[in-house]
Amino acid sequence: MATIFSGIKPTGVVTLGNYLGAMKQFVDLQDDNNAYYCIVDLHSITVQLDRVELMNNTRKLAALYLASGLDPEKATIFVQSEVKAHAQLGWMLTCIAGMGELGRMTQYKDKSQGSENVGAGLFVYPTLMASDILLYNTELVPVGDDQKQHIELTRDLAERFNKRYYETFTIPEPLIQKEGARIMSLTNPVKKMSKSDTNAKGYISMLDEPNVIRKKIKSAVTDSSGVISFDRENKPGISNLLEIYSLSTGTPIDDLVKQYENSNYGTFKQDVAEAVVALLEPIQARYHELIDSPELDEILDAGRAKAEAVANKNLAKIEKAMGLSRKRAKVKK
Ligand code: AMP
Ligand code: TRP
Repeated sequence: MATIFSGIKPTGVVTLGNYLGAMKQFVDLQDDNNAYYCIVDLHSITVQLDRVELMNNTRKLAALYLASGLDPEKATIFVQSEVKAHAQLGWMLTCIAGMGELGRMTQYKDKSQGSENVGAGLFVYPTLMASDILLYNTELVPVGDDQKQHIELTRDLAERFNKRYYETFTIPEPLIQKEGARIMSLTNPVKKMSKSDTNAKGYISMLDEPNVIRKKIKSAVTDSSGVISFDRENKPGISNLLEIYSLSTGTPIDDLVKQYENSNYGTFKQDVAEAVVALLEPIQARYHELIDSPELDEILDAGRAKAEAVANKNLAKIEKAMGLSRKRAKVKK
């Protein structure tokens, strides 16, 4: 049994990439572990967002967590901004992080594009993420492979803190699954499927209507060879669809390749679309039951209480280690 922490930002739509790359794994891990799954709204405000939209997104993501199978009896599900210790520890870790290492984060470089006009929050974002993880003595962090660098930084900050003060933090490990770590865009299969894609045809939202899903997969970019085989380099589009199909049904990619040996892309795409529809339909049905229900609030209230109890206890220890206390120190300076 391990302590697990992960989070998703309530920014825009939740995509099939989020589900296959992250949420599905969250569900698998909740059974035998002590898992915390957070809706990281403080990370969302690193970019300017409409306040009403943010509120709605937070609730939507919580409902999607539950509809996907996260069980509040097994995992602690909560909203980041409701547990104040995250921001507090985030500041403390910002003070031990260096400008250089933060500037090397590829997510920051991608999002800032060298501009000085980006929010400072985007720059210190990884220290808040480190705080999320370190507050719970997390051992494993299930994420997509784009987050690996942030986990490395988290480890560095934890080790630095432990050395500078005294042994306080558990050093976390990333948990990156092989398949699904990177679901690619349907319109540009060498790019990650992302909700920030300006073309909605590039991603499937977990809440897309079945017919929208069918249309998007039908028009997914492939190649002209007509052969259904797995080759990420030369056949990124078909490989991505194979991966989506495999993860949606649990059928190994090799079996699918055999099954579609003599099929054309049209038939294959139709079947991929039906597999995704079958995967998402029950999740969507449960989502609609939950979204306006008091049950959702009760679950998030209970999640907050559970997370807060652990976070506050650990924060007190971390503050003490750093000297944030007015007690007379017993050890010599
Ligand atoms: P984000 O949407 O950036 O907040 O990401 C939330 C989680 O979903 C992270 O663990 C990401 O690594 C994962 N994720 C997002 N997009 C994809 C994708 N296209 N393929 C696989 N995982 C993804
Ligand atoms: N930075 C992550 C992302 O963009 C989201 C995140 C915030 C997170 N805090 C976290 C993920 C803690 C894992 C653990 O996807």
